[in-house]
Amino acid sequence: MNILLLGSGGREHAFAMKISESPLCKQLYIASGNAGTANHGTNVDLSPSDFEAVGRFALDKEIGMLVVGPEAPLVAGIYDYFKADEQLKGVRVIGPSKAGARLEGSKAFAKAFMQERDIPTAAYAEFTAETLDEGLEYIAGHQMPVVLKADGLAAGKGVLIIDNVAEAQQELKAMLGGKFGDASAKVVVEEFLEGIEFSVFVITDGKNYKMLPVAKDYKRIGEGDTGLNTGGMGAISPVPFVDEQLMKKVENWIVSPTLTGLQEIEAVYQGFIFFGLIKVDGDPYVIEYNCRMGDPETEVVFPRLKTDLVAMMRALGDNTLHEMAVEVDERSAAAVFLVSGGYPQAYEKGKVITGLELVEESIVLHAGTREEEGQILTNGGRVLALTSFGENFKSAVAQSMENAERVQFEGKYYRRDIGFDL
Ligand code: AMP
Ligand code: GLY
Repeated sequence: MNILLLGSGGREHAFAMKISESPLCKQLYIASGNAGTANHGTNVDLSPSDFEAVGRFALDKEIGMLVVGPEAPLVAGIYDYFKADEQLKGVRVIGPSKAGARLEGSKAFAKAFMQERDIPTAAYAEFTAETLDEGLEYIAGHQMPVVLKADGLAAGKGVLIIDNVAEAQQELKAMLGGKFGDASAKVVVEEFLEGIEFSVFVITDGKNYKMLPVAKDYKRIGEGDTGLNTGGMGAISPVPFVDEQLMKKVENWIVSPTLTGLQEIEAVYQGFIFFGLIKVDGDPYVIEYNCRMGDPETEVVFPRLKTDLVAMMRALGDNTLHEMAVEVDERSAAAVFLVSGGYPQAYEKGKVITGLELVEESIVLHAGTREEEGQILTNGGRVLALTSFGENFKSAVAQSMENAERVQFEGKYYRRDIGFDL
């Protein structure tokens, strides 16, 4: 089967690596990929949001499976686009329908979905420009800090945690006034939960599901979890504090009712669900749903997955997922991201990366890289992840850090404390 993978980050390099290992994959194309994905298939210059171009390419190259890495095309309905087209509807699309992708595409939808089903999540209310006054009053009576969330996709910037009433009221006004464009035409105001976060992933055919390894990501730029939020500075899997008892609650209180709910609303869902969870007093709560795999979590989850990923994805359309056994490497994996100097604020691109051939016993997963005349250049804020295995996450992190010293580019920065809080 020929496979087209959409996306160009570290998550997609991890997908490309797993997909190309499968005997079920004949040709792999990545749109648009990076210098790392090019080692596992053919990068093609296509925008994942240009459905017509993606469809034409799929016909031209006899694509049997379309794997969608990022959320934007899913929220915009790429699944439905393929299924509505006579010539494309036979392509296996890995990712939910537009209706299913609302779990991530609309925070207000996700909150109502959870509340109706008693899925544990922070208490909330939602407001629009018409109900601004009620919103201001709601905030005035709310305990601080309070969390404000743009309803729609806002490139990871739509969540604000604010610890004073006046500022929160001002932000609500700004958001409803168009601070994030249409994405903040509706705003969710919710209770701040104090706890420790972790990421749970399932692959599902909409009815059955299989758990993938649990992970934890590190989002802040600075050591000790300080400074600005980033796309992710590193991740570990498994997570020491996530034990069997907690996972039972996750499955019974969160995963199962979510799948039942998707069936109730008749949302077709054949793909991955990422549950962004927080442990509060021993119990799991949902912070957010994502309709795709996580980044940088995929960079530790997939290397631990021993089962053929393409076989798992193929099983979604064949209704055979329940027959599959998921095999996982018992060792710990850790990913440490090397990023460009200045990131997540202004940074320069086009720096030559050297020393990749010196990396020992780590997997190099490219994110913001490109190749030019035989050289690998930086091409984004998050440049590449070094994923290593160990008896525990500490030895895995240590291995990645050894290699982080060997890879060089001007302005390189990385956190030395991934897993420090555990
Ligand atoms: P984002 O990844 O931009 O959606 O930001 C979400 C992040 O904001 C989460 O990973 C949490 O760290 C934080 N967050 C969101 N909602 C809450 C909440 N109700 N209580 C505490 N932290 C939250
Ligand atoms: N690791 C968080 C995300 O992928 O959104």
